Amino acid sequence: MPPSLDENTTTSLEQPLNDLSIKVKPRVKGGISTEFLKHLPPHSRARLERHGVDLSRGYPERPTDIPFYLDEAVAVRADEQEYIPRGKNADPEKKALLKNATAVNNLSKHIGTEIVGVQLADLNEQQLDELALLIAERTVVFFRDQDLPPAKQLEIGQFWGSQIEKHPQVPHVPGYPGITVLWPDHQILEGRKANFKQPGGASGWHTDLVHEAQPAGLTHLHNDQIPSVGGDTAWSSGYGAYDKLSPAFQEFLNGKTAIYRSAHTYIDRNDPLAGPKHIEREHPLVRTHPVTGWKTLWVNRAMTVRIVGLEPKESDAILSYLYDVYEKNQDIQVRFRWQPTKEGLGTSAIWDNRISQHNAIWDYEGKEPRHGTRVTSLGEVPHFDPTSPSRREALHLGE
Ligand SMILES: [Fe+2]
Repeated sequence: MPPSLDENTTTSLEQPLNDLSIKVKPRVKGGISTEFLKHLPPHSRARLERHGVDLSRGYPERPTDIPFYLDEAVAVRADEQEYIPRGKNADPEKKALLKNATAVNNLSKHIGTEIVGVQLADLNEQQLDELALLIAERTVVFFRDQDLPPAKQLEIGQFWGSQIEKHPQVPHVPGYPGITVLWPDHQILEGRKANFKQPGGASGWHTDLVHEAQPAGLTHLHNDQIPSVGGDTAWSSGYGAYDKLSPAFQEFLNGKTAIYRSAHTYIDRNDPLAGPKHIEREHPLVRTHPVTGWKTLWVNRAMTVRIVGLEPKESDAILSYLYDVYEKNQDIQVRFRWQPTKEGLGTSAIWDNRISQHNAIWDYEGKEPRHGTRVTSLGEVPHFDPTSPSRREALHLGE
């Protein structure tokens, strides 16, 4: 039996989040929190209550059956789920999606588009299909001033994914295990240390849920409470990172695989004295996107462990360079200013984890509230097609 969950013990979220490595917490309290509802930001509370989320028992909620052992965590999503590549056969001009848009603004040349005048909650399946294609092409798409019921956010994510990610540890909206709560203040209230030198939130470049057998496809973050200044998020393009490499280096990486790990850790019941271990899985280092058919570099500093088949020092040197390509080339990045909206309305960012890293910038230092709900649509079993083109090849963008 795993150690019992002690309701009176503060969680041991001792390390900064930019480590993005979260040690096993045998004392994390499952169930609905009663002590944090009073801290829920007013815009967030207004949105949740207006859309019928029951907050009478508290907020947020954690799973009550949090895995303690590694094999239990691995078993959470053991069976392969069918994945339909939404967007693959969509209208390339996205006429249905964009017919009511008042503006479609590319925020940088290679990544990031904002659609103005469209409510996500009103989109039908054809329009969501076209949106999936736009996200696959532009990596991240934004919608401001959204009146988005959490249940609708979940429904949209279900349409896009092989399944919705239900995190075995992190808090979710009460009654909705598939809607993760992203609330940096809650982590700090629970005891996580964060300051200017060791930023909180999800600061640090990373990609979500790379350790899954079917890793994250689209992530939809809807922020319903946003600081007046700061709290931007940045994304970097995996298509762009791959296209930055020389053909000879691309050829070396094509077909290689790497080991990817989870953010959270668990105890190996066969080797408990080894301490907490991450879930690890092997996936292609260069992937082919199932919708665009373009190659993308798929690594991130937080959760790529090593390249299979190389000596550790070789792997470390190459991965370090590949992280730099992603993190330091601003021409393949976009930084989005969320901006506060009217009470009860929020802003959505929907990005494709197969072709990106992101970084939540914690410059507001927890001095103003920031709160959002996140739905992650898991995608396909990653694959690499050696005949697939890069984005620049497909779009004839030159060297
Ligand atoms: Fe993230």
